[in-house]
Amino acid sequence: MRQKFIAGNWKMFTETAQAKSLAQGLKQNLSGIMHRIVVAPPFTALALVSDILQGSNIGVAAQNMSNLEAGARTGEISVLMLKDIEISTVIIGHSERRQFFAETDALINEKIKLALKHGFDVIFCNGETLAERESGKEVEVVTRQTKTALEGVSAADMTRITIAYEPVWAIGTGKTASPQQANDMHKTIRSVIAGLYDQTVANSTIIQYGGSVKPDNAKELLSMSDIDGALVGGASLKVEDFTAIAKFDM
Ligand code: 13P
Repeated sequence: MRQKFIAGNWKMFTETAQAKSLAQGLKQNLSGIMHRIVVAPPFTALALVSDILQGSNIGVAAQNMSNLEAGARTGEISVLMLKDIEISTVIIGHSERRQFFAETDALINEKIKLALKHGFDVIFCNGETLAERESGKEVEVVTRQTKTALEGVSAADMTRITIAYEPVWAIGTGKTASPQQANDMHKTIRSVIAGLYDQTVANSTIIQYGGSVKPDNAKELLSMSDIDGALVGGASLKVEDFTAIAKFDM
């Protein structure tokens, strides 16, 4: 049995007052829940949100990190800085990083290996664009992204990798992949993992779906055989919505 894992990616939203009230609301609403829950605030709110969620069952993740430990990289945040404020989970390879910051599969692979070296849990994102799906290339693209991202990652380290399948055409568009479409791709990803490692690793890898997950579609998506969780954007910014998604089965 794979534990369900619901994560909220706050993206470039929440100034401190909103971050504080979101964290406080979720702490109250989600105590005692059996699923794994993580929120990913922007860098400026990480320490604050960590403080608020200290001792709760909600983990805190960064949304990105540099591929270097330190250096002349104006504007970047390193894994050591995250560690320093006791963050130990990071999202890597989000499609917005690929799209707007030109992140490549190779760079994402470097980041993943660096995060693992420092003991982090990683939420690795993959997913095809609309053009790629319309030209029937979605399996090829997601397979390539997954294989490159995991190059040099050991089977033992796979216990610290969560994969978030986020079709780009479903992000922030209100258009979700159908539960069947998402589940099919999750099965494909699982078979890629089985090929890279073995069936045991594949069966225990948590694969989240992301892309317009809302309270009214969460249950249907999360009931599918290979959908083990959700990476939620817009709906993670509202206490009631994220609560409803995290409590999809209650
Ligand atoms: P939305 O839920 O807003 O579509 O965003 C999904 C996402 O990109 C989460 O990382």
